[in-house]
Amino acid sequence: MLEELKKLCEEARSTIDAAVGRDALEQLQTKYLGRKGKLRDAMAKLPGLSDDMKRQAGRMANEVKKEIEGLLKEKLKASGAKKTTTKAHFDFTLPGRQRTLGRIHPIIRTQIELCDIFTRLGFDIVRGPEIELGYYNFDALNVPKDHPSRDAFDTLYLDGDRLLRSHTSPVQIRAMEKRKPPLRIIAPGRVYRRDTADASHYPTFHQIEGLVVGEDVTFADLKAVLTLAMKELLGESVRTRFRPSFFPFTEPSAEVDVSCRFCDAKGCNSCGQKGWIELLGSGMVHPNVFKAVGYDSEKYTGFAFGMGVDRIAMGRYGIHDVRLFFENDLRFLNQF
Ligand code: DAH
Repeated sequence: MLEELKKLCEEARSTIDAAVGRDALEQLQTKYLGRKGKLRDAMAKLPGLSDDMKRQAGRMANEVKKEIEGLLKEKLKASGAKKTTTKAHFDFTLPGRQRTLGRIHPIIRTQIELCDIFTRLGFDIVRGPEIELGYYNFDALNVPKDHPSRDAFDTLYLDGDRLLRSHTSPVQIRAMEKRKPPLRIIAPGRVYRRDTADASHYPTFHQIEGLVVGEDVTFADLKAVLTLAMKELLGESVRTRFRPSFFPFTEPSAEVDVSCRFCDAKGCNSCGQKGWIELLGSGMVHPNVFKAVGYDSEKYTGFAFGMGVDRIAMGRYGIHDVRLFFENDLRFLNQF
């Protein structure tokens, strides 16, 4: 009998010790001390014992009862006055819930890298609106009234004089209106054209515009800055080639090609056997552009450039269809 009581006490001790929450403790109280509890069960055997045994067992049962009551009371106090529910119990051994992290889109990543290169060269980053006025997108940039790029087949017009900018060049005008020379800015951003989507066209894409204005800024500066920037972007061994071209806002104008890094300008499948990849437009700022913003074109000269970020991203990641960038297909995007 004494042995049984001892065991009962030990069992109660360890279950109370392991119990969590008020509800569980209350259940244990009923289990051990209740009217149909374990202690009562044990006591029911008392009458059948010898007098001496009855005395000893009775005393011990009392002690066990007191101990269990004490343990329960202490534990209840520790578990707080508030009723704790089993919900509050947190199992630290459960595996964690995984949160999927987003990542930077390959186009924006390329844009950030380009911006880093130019900010290291002392350029400020500026931004302009995607909904633009015809004045900034065309007129102030010396684009003649009958220029084909103004055609509604090429530019997306909104109401009145508003349109979706077809290039980042209007940010040149906005920056010059706000600042006095000398000035060194780049303007990254999204542009829009009325193109049907195919492997190399999409109605929205990204450009980075650059503009440097000061006294004695020459074509040699243009060549030096762009050659250095392309080496930073594509590696020390890349070569640049400047071809005469035409843009209304620059004179003279040049198209800049870079040597194909797979064949070093010899021609391969990657560059369509051309050896060179056309990467940007550039030139010396046209005096009419300075006139539009009130800069003295006798005193100041400058150069400008514009490059397509999506094309650069395609080249560096080996992507052959521009549409993949815009489809939001995670199977594609998760690779970057
Ligand atoms: N805005 C031109 C385009 O979208 C690119 C460009 C060419 C920008 C020459 C320039 C530049 O600043 O000087 O095709």
